[in-house]
Amino acid sequence: MGRAILSSPPFYPILIIGKVPEDLGQRLAQVGPVTYLDRNESLSEDEIIAAACKAHVILTEPPDRITPRVIEACPNLVMIAQRAVGYDNIDLQDCQARPILVSNTPGVLDNATADFAFALLLAAGRRVVEADNYVRSGQWLGFENDLLLGTEMTGSTIGIVGMGRIGSAMARRARGFGMRIVYCRAADSGAQIKDSDIVLDEKDHKWREELGAERMSMTSVLQQSDYVSLHCPHNKQTEKLIGAREFGLMKPNCIFVNTARGKVVDEDALCAAIAGGKIRGAGLDVFYHEPLVSDVLLKAPNVVLAPHIGSASEETRYAMAESAVNAVISAFAGKVPHNALNKEIFERWQEHK
Ligand code: GLV
Repeated sequence: MGRAILSSPPFYPILIIGKVPEDLGQRLAQVGPVTYLDRNESLSEDEIIAAACKAHVILTEPPDRITPRVIEACPNLVMIAQRAVGYDNIDLQDCQARPILVSNTPGVLDNATADFAFALLLAAGRRVVEADNYVRSGQWLGFENDLLLGTEMTGSTIGIVGMGRIGSAMARRARGFGMRIVYCRAADSGAQIKDSDIVLDEKDHKWREELGAERMSMTSVLQQSDYVSLHCPHNKQTEKLIGAREFGLMKPNCIFVNTARGKVVDEDALCAAIAGGKIRGAGLDVFYHEPLVSDVLLKAPNVVLAPHIGSASEETRYAMAESAVNAVISAFAGKVPHNALNKEIFERWQEHK
């Protein structure tokens, strides 16, 4: 049986990578002594190992790569609390075996991320960044009827790739702008999948009723949309999901938005689509080799760029940290955190830790 350590002296050293609000960091002291490792740049494996080799718990974020080598070099590690919904920086497979409990922060960042995806969509569609540069650089001489013409939202079609919590929050925003909504889910993405293969479930019926949203194959979504927004996780199945074939299916006026993960997109194919004028533009918050951004994208005026800040509202970043801290406190008090990614190991974990 695991110990209910809230009544025992703090025992489990905790490493927080990156920033966490002070009051939340202090709450963790009931589990164990807390050290902080702040960073402006991604840390190397060796830097993470040097800081984490004695820790029992680490609080991580997307740039912190917890590889099999890191796990191997941190023998005390029993829990990783990721402050993000995506967790492709953590080798979950390896954590199962040890066992290391892993949690993420689903649910608390849906609205902030959908807001930002919609901001990128609007900014690229209505050329907000180009307009700002135009005024600041002194090029504006007076009103012109055809100056910086963009595309309309109302009456256009948005295609949502990945209709989970964030995708459906995006769809609700699109509905408010009078857009037609089409979407695909994980099972709909193979080139061979046809619309007629898709069997609708309860959620699809709900979204149709609530938003008029139509589920179809990814091929049809890409062919029909004026805006395509990615909202699927990055994993082995979705690595480079959007490549040359997929950009080739998009309409020439399509604006492509990615707030999911850079690795879901073949960035060379995206650059080719932008450089060749195959799509109208893009709004990008995430990149394949983050924080490096391809030169083509940096130079393209029709691409709006952001530094992975999709969930970065004050309220949401606090809620994400709180969700991670609560997961740690709950696990060490003997309760399965609702946001544990590998709940099935909890019993074994309690004995082992
Ligand atoms: C942010 O990138 C997240 O996955 O929450």
